[in-house]
Amino acid sequence: MSPLFMVGAAIAAILIISILKTSIRPRNFPPGPIGLPLVGHIPFIDAKNVGRSCKKLGKKYGDIFSIFLGTKPVVVLNSWPVIKEAFSKKEFSGRPGMFSGTFFQKGQTGICTTEGEAWEAQRTFFHDHLQNMVKGKGSQGFHDIIMDEVHDIRTELAKKVGEPIAPSYVLNIGIINILWTVASGRRLHSQQQEFQSVYECIEKITQFMSKAAIMSFMPFLARILPEAITKMERGRYFRDRFVAISEKWIEEHKQEYRGNRTGDLTDSYMAKIKEGTPYFTEKGLGAMLREMFVIGAESESVMLRWAVRILSVHTEAQRKIQAEIDSVVGVDKDVTWDDRFNLPYTRAAMAEIQRFADIAPTAVGHKCLYDVDFHGFHLPKGTGVVANLTACHRDPAYWKNPEKYQPEHFLDEQGQFIEDKDGFVPFGSGIRRCPGEDLANIEMFLVLANLLKAFVFRTPENDDKSVGTYYKTGTGVLRNPKPYYVVLENRT
Ligand code: HEM
Repeated sequence: MSPLFMVGAAIAAILIISILKTSIRPRNFPPGPIGLPLVGHIPFIDAKNVGRSCKKLGKKYGDIFSIFLGTKPVVVLNSWPVIKEAFSKKEFSGRPGMFSGTFFQKGQTGICTTEGEAWEAQRTFFHDHLQNMVKGKGSQGFHDIIMDEVHDIRTELAKKVGEPIAPSYVLNIGIINILWTVASGRRLHSQQQEFQSVYECIEKITQFMSKAAIMSFMPFLARILPEAITKMERGRYFRDRFVAISEKWIEEHKQEYRGNRTGDLTDSYMAKIKEGTPYFTEKGLGAMLREMFVIGAESESVMLRWAVRILSVHTEAQRKIQAEIDSVVGVDKDVTWDDRFNLPYTRAAMAEIQRFADIAPTAVGHKCLYDVDFHGFHLPKGTGVVANLTACHRDPAYWKNPEKYQPEHFLDEQGQFIEDKDGFVPFGSGIRRCPGEDLANIEMFLVLANLLKAFVFRTPENDDKSVGTYYKTGTGVLRNPKPYYVVLENRT
């Protein structure tokens, strides 16, 4: 045998062993299927329906199992009790620094991609600021700001009564303007250049992130695949444009500041920077603003799109909501946030939209901050952990008819709304639960209740009345409804 052949064989053996090693689980790790070297289980997971794929694996491997996403073993939590238990613990609160998040934030900044003390400081600030607007001293003013947007949405939609329309653009203008007011104390006209730029950035960045989700697990793809497939340059272009826009907002805020704080988020954050509060920087503020728009606006937009479709198909539920609103609120008044206590069916119908739509099937990935022992398994520091929210939202243990849209899932025997329902986790669970939850809920309630008061939502002629997922955008980040049209009819 020639020495050259022996060297070649040795190199090949080392390569094969190192490739195989990338698909061997650590000791005492949760069980799971055998994967392929380098790509792991990615070829076997239905990328279009990640939550359901994991739900199926759970039938074989139980509530805690593992899969290889690329070369990394990831633990999947596949039921409400284990998700609730794990995510209430600090040790599960890390973030894996995945490509899709760090790419758009240009590193680990802001809330969603950070961990430890930096994350805690940013998140607490953001959460407290929103809570003050939604529930605290500023709540009446904030309620009025939302209602102004609701009136504009209603006026715009009223111009289209009787025609089949795609409602998302009109709804998105309202959503973005509410966030704009939270961020900078002002709203914009949708025809303004700045509004159009932000709208385009949100749209293109979310499209890119959805397609690029796979690169979080196989980062080498970004280097070896051509631009025509990865669309990296395009993603980078919109990312950089949005970074420049957010930096410009901060500069403008600094210049416009005349000593009277308006109480908007940018003002409050800049006061922290001025005081020298640790972890508060202009870079962090820019990241937080972008997060509000890319994560917050897009999640709300997807949820409202599901809502209009679900209600236009489920005419009986729609009729019951309208009857309840008519009898409780009356014909001449707007529905207010305080009315919610007297509108149990309406609230149940909205919570059921959030369950049924299940827009974040696997939420955002977590990471173990330290070595963790959990249910007899050992998870080394750095292990990625994913919560399968679809498994919760489709579990017959909590839902009588998990595959059906049925507002009664959220009503008790007296017809009262059930506030805290086991298995209901559209905003995640525990210490990293979505900090925008209350804001999203108040907006969804006021927009939908007031639109349903004014209009009947119905499907156009020849519509197949299916309520399905738009798989083209993938479900690895957000689950979108299939594009559809709705016809609005005046109720009065
Ligand atoms: C219907 C609307 C929304 C849904 C269903 C939703 C859902 C979620 C989910 C499932 C998570 C991941 C939780 C986890 O890591 O375990 C999350 C995180 C987050 N959401 Fe939302 N969200 C919505 C609206 C919003 C809004 C309006 C904002 C901001 C204005 C927002 C800001 C955030 C942020 C900053 C995080 C990261 C939290 C952290 O890492 O600590 N979300 N959201």
